[in-house]
Amino acid sequence: MSVLIAYATHSGATETLAERMRETLAAAGITAEKISVDDNPDPSRFDAAIIGSGIRVEAVEKTFVTWVKEHSAALADRPVAFFTCSGSASDPRKEGRQNGAESFLRDAAFTPVATRNFPGWVIMDRIPMHERVLLKSMRTPTGDFRDLDAVAAWTREIAPQLTA
Ligand SMILES: Cc1cc2nc3c(=O)[nH]c(=O)nc-3n(C[C@H](O)[C@H](O)[C@H](O)COP(=O)(O)O)c2cc1C
Repeated sequence: MSVLIAYATHSGATETLAERMRETLAAAGITAEKISVDDNPDPSRFDAAIIGSGIRVEAVEKTFVTWVKEHSAALADRPVAFFTCSGSASDPRKEGRQNGAESFLRDAAFTPVATRNFPGWVIMDRIPMHERVLLKSMRTPTGDFRDLDAVAAWTREIAPQLTA
């Protein structure tokens, strides 16, 4: 049993979630490889996949969309769980919903066995100057909103669906 954890990140938070997923699967005796979509991992080498992206301007990363399209046949052919990492996921008024995730899934060629929108971080030092200006104009709250224990719990919860 092997699981690909493919992720797209801009400021690094999504990679830290992916790493916690990898550690959690490894602790359960499941071999998992965490690979950036920039390195174009091949899902057909794995039995299942967890795939996730950071959110920018209400959308998943373009590199993520491109990678998913390129591997749509392999992704449709095995269990795939999907997650996002965003600022707004820390807002309880969103009730776990994420617009970028929903529009991505509407067009996706696969149906995930599980989906979760996790909070990430908004750390000004990690993003380019022009994006800082945009975020300030949108009055985006800054800070580290990640909950890595929740990431581990979700990974344990979905493991049976990946290995079924
Ligand atoms: C330019 C920019 C735009 C963003 N737009 C959104 C957004 O539309 N909705 C949201 O919930 N979070 C938004 N965020 C917050 C990111 O989703 C958050 O920083 C997340 O941790 C990004 O993942 P990453 O660190 O892996 O790139 C934005 C962040 C940046 C830098």
